[in-house]
Amino acid sequence: MTTLLHDPDDDVLVVDLDGIVLSAAGRFSAWPEGSAEHLPGTSLWSAVNTERVNQRRIVLSQVASTADPVCFVDQLHGRWVRTTVIPVGGGGPGIQKVAFLHRDIDAHVRAVEELKRLRLRALTLQEDERRAISQNLHDELGQGVTAVLMQLRVLTARTPVPPEVATTLREVTAQMETLAKRMRQLFYRVRPPALHDTDLAQALADYCVTTAQASGLVIDFDAEAELPVLDETRAASLYRLLQEGLNNTIKHAHARAVWVSLGFDEDTISLAVEDDGIGFDTDAIPDGMGLPGMFERLAMLGGGVQIDSRPGKGTRITGTVPRWPEAETS
Ligand SMILES: Nc1ncnc2c1ncn2[C@@H]1O[C@H](COP(=O)(O)OP(=O)(O)OP(=O)(O)O)[C@@H](O)[C@H]1O
Ligand SMILES: [Mg+2]
Repeated sequence: MTTLLHDPDDDVLVVDLDGIVLSAAGRFSAWPEGSAEHLPGTSLWSAVNTERVNQRRIVLSQVASTADPVCFVDQLHGRWVRTTVIPVGGGGPGIQKVAFLHRDIDAHVRAVEELKRLRLRALTLQEDERRAISQNLHDELGQGVTAVLMQLRVLTARTPVPPEVATTLREVTAQMETLAKRMRQLFYRVRPPALHDTDLAQALADYCVTTAQASGLVIDFDAEAELPVLDETRAASLYRLLQEGLNNTIKHAHARAVWVSLGFDEDTISLAVEDDGIGFDTDAIPDGMGLPGMFERLAMLGGGVQIDSRPGKGTRITGTVPRWPEAETS
């Protein structure tokens, strides 16, 4: 039986069809008894936490009747354990014994959780830093440009200058105004949305309206009613997806219309951005930072991005995040 054990933290219990332990081997680090000697002759059902008993009973009879192994992960006495249940001694209806092979994966599961926590923290810090950079740019550059513009206007209004100098002054003023407008748009794009006190659907709708006005695109926004509330990190990631999706449509698609829809099901919230533009070949996506950034961000949160596009057939980008933070994966 010890040949079943590949790791010092593995243990194995062979039980009959009533769950009575026939033999046991291994370290049993996840068991309160602490050693293999106490288990033979006792019931497996009295040894495992009560809420897990039914699940194990069902698996035991399933494995005995089908002879197919079953594997699952759950907590046993407070530790994460992967249990593999296999038939012992031939297949078919003659199975009288079943082995429960336990591998203690507690350290691994906790390390993955810690990594997830750190990645989320990195995402939050990144947004904080963007907010600070945007604010500084706004304060330093924005106010500087405004001051120059005011001086130019004063100069243009008051000083008698030769006509060619007046023309140059007007041109410089126009260029500064364009610069000021572009800078405002840049601050708006870089600054993370304040989603803690606004609801996500409203923030997305506002962004669609502003973008439609600036770009001339027809943008239709639709949100399902009674959307579940998301924490700020996941809400911001969907907001960023909308920004990148619409920016890409403006830059690459030659589209006339865009349909944005926000919806949810039992497990996920999803945002789709679809345009009627030129599309592209998804097997050979040209290099860029936008789409890979979106993939990475949503994957970190346990979600994903799907791109449906074909040359001449428009593009649809769908981003998904889990409704429940605990559904996140590494
Ligand atoms: N809506 C779209 N319509 C047509 N082509 C698209 C669309 N979205 C993306 N693409 C294609 O996919 C490529 C990769 O997009 P990605 O967002 O990663 O990079 P980018 O937009 O070129 O640059 P960046 O986002 O780094 O400023 C684009 O260069 C473009 O060829
Ligand atoms: Mg892009």
